[in-house]
Amino acid sequence: MWAESDVQFLDRASRLAMNGRGWVEPNPMVGCVIVKNDRIIGEGFHSRFGSPHAEPTALSGCTESPNGATAYVTLEPCCHTHKKTPPCVPLLIEHRIARVVIGCVDPNPQVNGNGIRQLKQAGIEVDLAPTLVEARFKQLISPFILRTLYDRPYVTMKWAQTSDGKVAGHEGMRLKITDEPANRLVHWLRTRSDAIVVGINTVLNDDPSLTVRGVDVIRHPERIILDRKLRTPTTSQLVRTALLTPTVVVTSLTAPSAHFEPLVEKGVRVVWPPAEREDLLQAALRAGEYVKKNYTHVLIEPGPTLASAVFRAGICDRLWVFESPQTLDDPSAPRASTIPPWFELSGQLRIGQDLLYEYLNTQSPAYFTHYPSVDFLLTSENHSSGVDFSDSRPKTDD
Ligand SMILES: NC(=O)c1ccc[n+]([C@@H]2O[C@H](COP(=O)([O-])OP(=O)(O)OC[C@H]3O[C@@H](n4cnc5c(N)ncnc54)[C@H](OP(=O)(O)O)[C@@H]3O)[C@@H](O)[C@H]2O)c1
Ligand SMILES: [Zn+2]
Repeated sequence: MWAESDVQFLDRASRLAMNGRGWVEPNPMVGCVIVKNDRIIGEGFHSRFGSPHAEPTALSGCTESPNGATAYVTLEPCCHTHKKTPPCVPLLIEHRIARVVIGCVDPNPQVNGNGIRQLKQAGIEVDLAPTLVEARFKQLISPFILRTLYDRPYVTMKWAQTSDGKVAGHEGMRLKITDEPANRLVHWLRTRSDAIVVGINTVLNDDPSLTVRGVDVIRHPERIILDRKLRTPTTSQLVRTALLTPTVVVTSLTAPSAHFEPLVEKGVRVVWPPAEREDLLQAALRAGEYVKKNYTHVLIEPGPTLASAVFRAGICDRLWVFESPQTLDDPSAPRASTIPPWFELSGQLRIGQDLLYEYLNTQSPAYFTHYPSVDFLLTSENHSSGVDFSDSRPKTDD
C-alpha cells in the first residue's frame, strides 16, 4: 500500500533521473532507488540514449542482495522488446524485488500498464503514486509525453528584456541586455535543445550565430529561420556556417525562386509547409523529419512578432524571460510581447544581476503541476540563491 514515506524515495529517484537531462532524449529521464529496511542499497538513472535503463543500473550497484527490497522507479518499468536494451520487468522479477513503487505510468502504448500487470502477475506488490504526486513525475517526462502522444516536441520560448520591458535598443537596434551568467545559461539550454528557431527580422537585425559557446557541449542544435520571402542573406552568420552546424530556412511556396539556389549552394536546407495545411511554425517543429530525426526539445528565441505568433498558435509549453536591471526609457525601442494570462509563473531566480522568470502554459498537454520544470530546478541548484515561487510578474505590458 502507498505510504507517505514513499514520496522521499521517489523524490530521490526523480533527482537521479534529472542527471540524464540533455543526454537521454528522445527517451525519458528515469531514476531508480532500491530500498531495504528503510535504507537505500542501490541507485541508478538512465544516463544516455541507448545505455542501460535506471533499474539495471540500480540493481547492479546494490551494496547487498535486493531480494525482498522495494524498487522506487519514476516511470513504469518497461516490458517491451525490440529496442536497444532488454526489458526491466523480467530483471526486477529475477532479482526477487518484493515491491515496486512507480511515479507514473509509461505513456508508450507498448508499455502503458503492461509493465505493472506483468509485475503483479509475478506476485510483486505494485503501488502507483497518487494522482497529485504522479503529476510531478509526468512533468519530469513531459517532453516524452508530447513526443509519444502528441507527435510534437516540447517548445520553450526565451527572451531577454530590460526592467521596462524592452527587447531591443533605439528603433530596434541590437542591444546587449543580460550579463554573462544569464548568457551562459542560455547556452546551457541551447545544447539541451535539438533546434533553435528565430524569425527573419532577428537575422536581418542582429545577425546571430545561435551556436553553443562557453558551456559543456552535448549537441549543437540545428538553427531554423522562419522566412516567408527568403530574405535570409547569404552573408549572414547562420548561412556562412551552415556546413558546420545545420541551418534550415522555412519559407513559403510564394517566396522568390531566385533566392533559393544561393542558399542551397551554401549548404542551407530550405523547406516549406505542404500548401495550406501547415503554417511555418508547424513546419519548423517538423523540420527534423526531413533528416529522419524527431526533435524532442525546440527552443524559440523570438522577437516580439514571432513571440506573439507563437502564443497565438498555442504551441509554447514553457517561457523563460530574463530581465535585466537596466531601464531603457526609449519609446522607439520594441516592447516584449504580452504574456497570456494562462501562462503561470512557476519560479523566479536571480542569475548574476539578472532575473529569470519561468512560466508554464497551463493549457499545454505538457502541463501537469505548478512545480518548475526540470531545467529550472537544475538551474536553481547551480545558482546559490535558491528557488523563489513568489508571484511577481515582470513588466511586459503597458
Ligand atoms: N531580447 C531578445 O531576447 C530578442 C530576441 C530576438 C530578437 N530580438 C529583437 O527583436 C527584433 C526583431 O523582432 P521582430 O518582432 O521584428 O521580428 P522576429 O520575431 O525576429 O521575426 C518576425 C518575422 O518572421 C517572419 N515569420 C515567418 N513565419 C512567421 C510566423 N509563423 N510567425 C511570425 N513571424 C513569422 C515574418 O517575416 P516574413 O513575413 O518576411 O517571413 C515576421 O515578420 C530585433 O530588434 C531583435 O534585436 C530580441
Ligand atoms: Zn527499462
